[in-house]
Amino acid sequence: MKASDTKATLSFSNGGQAVDLPIYKGTLGPDVIDIRKLYAQTGMFTYDPGFMSTASCESAITYIDGDKGELLYRGYPIEQLATNCDFLETCHLLLYGELPNSDEKAKFTDLVTHHTMVNEQMQFFLRGFRRDAHPMAIMTGLVGALSAFYHDSTDINNPKHREIAAVRLIAKMPTLVAMAYKYTVGQPYMYPKNDLSYAGNFLHMMFATPCEEYKVSPVLERALDRIFILHADHEQNASTSTVRLCGSSGTNPFAAIAAGVACLWGPAHGGANEAALNMLYDIQKAGGVEKIGEFIKQVKDKNSNVKLMGFGHRVYKNYDPRAKLMQETCREVLGELGLENDPLFKLAMALEKIALEDEYFVSRKLYPNVDFYSGIVQRAIGIPVPLFTAIFALARTVGWIAQLNEMIGDPDYKIGRPRQLFEGSPKRDVKPIGAR
Ligand code: ACO
Repeated sequence: MKASDTKATLSFSNGGQAVDLPIYKGTLGPDVIDIRKLYAQTGMFTYDPGFMSTASCESAITYIDGDKGELLYRGYPIEQLATNCDFLETCHLLLYGELPNSDEKAKFTDLVTHHTMVNEQMQFFLRGFRRDAHPMAIMTGLVGALSAFYHDSTDINNPKHREIAAVRLIAKMPTLVAMAYKYTVGQPYMYPKNDLSYAGNFLHMMFATPCEEYKVSPVLERALDRIFILHADHEQNASTSTVRLCGSSGTNPFAAIAAGVACLWGPAHGGANEAALNMLYDIQKAGGVEKIGEFIKQVKDKNSNVKLMGFGHRVYKNYDPRAKLMQETCREVLGELGLENDPLFKLAMALEKIALEDEYFVSRKLYPNVDFYSGIVQRAIGIPVPLFTAIFALARTVGWIAQLNEMIGDPDYKIGRPRQLFEGSPKRDVKPIGAR
């Protein structure tokens, strides 16, 4: 951390002693005020629920400029990665800090490819679930269960163990998501095929059956690969912070990632792509484009609790750069499948246009986020709506594990332990039951 010559001075209106606080400069983005000694110096904590102004860690992985709508993985703009690299190159970048050269790419691809099978015992674990269980419920369980299978890679203080756990997680997530899907539809599991690409293998495990040949469409393969790249990391979002906090206790890495899966499930986070598509279905059912005005009215009504899903973001106060790339992919996929006139896509475009011109959304800087279009792409590929968030989890796994490993590799890391402003009852005595 590079300290600035300037210090922040915290003074008190009651004449209490002012304190100087160090300021640190990052490579990009806002400076941070170091408040670690604040409690020792003043007896006070800071108050920041939702981490609106709090940097929880140092990181060199992902940078977002929310005002500009910019997203960089290890310094590279997401647009360049999405057009010039594939997902496994992106994984290498996030994990090791650099894009691989051809030899490194071949080695890393080979390594991931040869860890794609899961222990056969996993099938029996899966059988314990109801067939109609939500895929994210299944995924939370399955990823947590991995912690019971790989006892040779759970010493988080050993960098080699951390690397093996990372590779296993990246390799096995597509297998687990596809198994969760096959289980819910009652089809036989398809084993990974090592001659296919990462995305191609996933499509094969999802849509092939033992009865006939399944040919992976290069357009769909590329679209899915792009979805994976766009979702691979997003700095200190809710699920990543969950993984860091969970992992800060020194827990098993697979268990920490399972915590991230659980957090991602929520509709304010990864569950938004599912919610966005369901919202489009609802508008479609109610009358389609004609009903957009009425729907927007409801969204703007504070008492309705209706949100325009796939819009708004805690950090982006501009167009989410991933949404632009996703819209492009959406056109490509619909074109490939002959669905250019897809009513849901048309509805999404119309909804976006109206929202982008509406004062409510403009003044609050609410723009489409990545989830607005990713649902339409996934649906066109044939992925069922409840599986969308599981696909997001698959893609984000590399970000989670890269962030977790970065934290554990930092010799100064500490267990995460926020403080609170206590608003409950002061100390009191328990009365006998008859007197309460
Ligand atoms: N529809 C309608 N109004 C919205 C929306 C929306 N999607 N998002 C924010 N607002 C309004 C809020 O009501 C609030 O209005 P007010 O100032 O009049 O009270 C204002 O915009 C600010 O919103 P906050 O909720 O304070 O913003 P916050 O940063 O806490 O929330 C969030 C961000 C959770 C993403 C929110 O925009 C949202 O719920 N969006 C819909 C769900 C969604 O798409 N989530 C995906 C996030 S991206 C991802 O995880 C990949």
